[in-house]
Amino acid sequence: MTDVQASTAPSLTVRDNRTGQEYELPITDGTIKAADLGKIRADDDEPGLAVYDPGFVNTASCRSAVTYIDGDKGILEYRGYPIEQLAEKSTFLEVAYLLIYGQLPDKTQYDEWVHHITYHTFVHENVRSFMQGFRYDAHPMGMLMASVGALSTFYPESRDISDMHNREIQIIRMIAKMPTLGAWAFRHAQGKPYIYPDNDLSYTANFLSMLFKMSEQKYDADERLVKALDVLFILHADHEQNCSTNAVRSVGSSQVDPYSAVAAGIAALFGPLHGGANEAVLRMLRRIGSLENVPAFIDGVKAGNERLMGFGHRVYKNYDPRAKIIKKATEDVFEVTGVNPLLKIAQELEKIALEDDYFVSRRLYPNVDFYSGLIYEALQFPPEMFTVLFAIGRTPGWLSQWLELTEDKEQKIARPKQIYTGDRSLTFTPREERWA
Ligand code: ACO
Repeated sequence: MTDVQASTAPSLTVRDNRTGQEYELPITDGTIKAADLGKIRADDDEPGLAVYDPGFVNTASCRSAVTYIDGDKGILEYRGYPIEQLAEKSTFLEVAYLLIYGQLPDKTQYDEWVHHITYHTFVHENVRSFMQGFRYDAHPMGMLMASVGALSTFYPESRDISDMHNREIQIIRMIAKMPTLGAWAFRHAQGKPYIYPDNDLSYTANFLSMLFKMSEQKYDADERLVKALDVLFILHADHEQNCSTNAVRSVGSSQVDPYSAVAAGIAALFGPLHGGANEAVLRMLRRIGSLENVPAFIDGVKAGNERLMGFGHRVYKNYDPRAKIIKKATEDVFEVTGVNPLLKIAQELEKIALEDDYFVSRRLYPNVDFYSGLIYEALQFPPEMFTVLFAIGRTPGWLSQWLELTEDKEQKIARPKQIYTGDRSLTFTPREERWA
């Protein structure tokens, strides 16, 4: 930062009315550096100027080349590729490769990648034992979070995050084992035996097998359901600096192993403001119950009594591109499972909302969660499992963001500032005197 002088480089001129001094702050990529603001001081004894930004609504915490979102236009791209093309033409494992390595694999790279992931799906038998120790009604997200964190104790070498080969093997292990842990958490709640991975199957078909196989030799999932779930994983694979990714980056910035960092991401995703909205959509649709109740429900939303769950988004002020794709996948799934009667209510809500000035003027459109719960329910998942599915899909995203963090020389340990609002310099009185 320099005092104001004529300059052609993009910059921001700030006048500090406390001192009358003007400063020129360079603008790079549409941002100013918070550290530059810190040099603005009323006097030498005062801390420099900082920004107050709870929830980081207008703070860039990193440079990232993973995911691009334009919320106004409804654009989502992974490594530059539009989500629509990836959902239609790619597979989840290919998208995972793209996110991690930054480019699409050639045939050899793809085959090797799929082979590695497939042959790391098994977990140590002790993982199975400790998962069996959870209470019968343990929430599957709690089980997943704990199990992923515990993997760090099985792979102590994962703490050496400076070694690229080491980082890579942990990434493969985590993407490979996540469906095994998720499926076992699901079986646990049902009191059913845990099913071992079947490495003859694709990533997603194997997941369905571990979820639903009983006494048959081989679980043969309908290809349309496999495809729909694979697409859902693709749609959830990354979403730039959301709450859970920020948690992974923040915890990862301490240079802890990636299992611990991803466990933190799972913890963040567990919260109802992040991964839990699709469950709320299902509850809402059940409560509305029938088509004739839709207008009264919409009136209630417009009167401010409640929100239309699955509508609106902090970033998307247009149709969430993922919601369009999910809507199509919903139809494919219902071809196999039969139509969920709640679909008609969802469609009617959408039709009315997209024409109603209340929603149009506030730019409220269906988000990713509006239809995903309907698909999950049709696939026989209980609501507690919805977020586990989200976590499996998001794992390559968390890991690619973590990888980027470990290679970014500008990154430091995450340590935000605070505005202190408490007391100062009190004198401590010992208990005997205080209570006398
Ligand atoms: N139904 C009715 N009104 C809404 C809705 C909704 N779903 N969402 C926002 N509004 C209204 C607000 O009441 C507000 O109106 P006002 O200006 O008259 O006060 C206006 O739209 C702006 O709303 P904000 O809450 O300021 O918007 P914000 O960007 O902070 O919230 C959020 C985004 C949390 C997603 C919100 O739209 C919402 O609660 N939606 C329902 C829950 C949901 O579907 N969440 C899933 C998000 S996707 C995901 O996390 C994977």
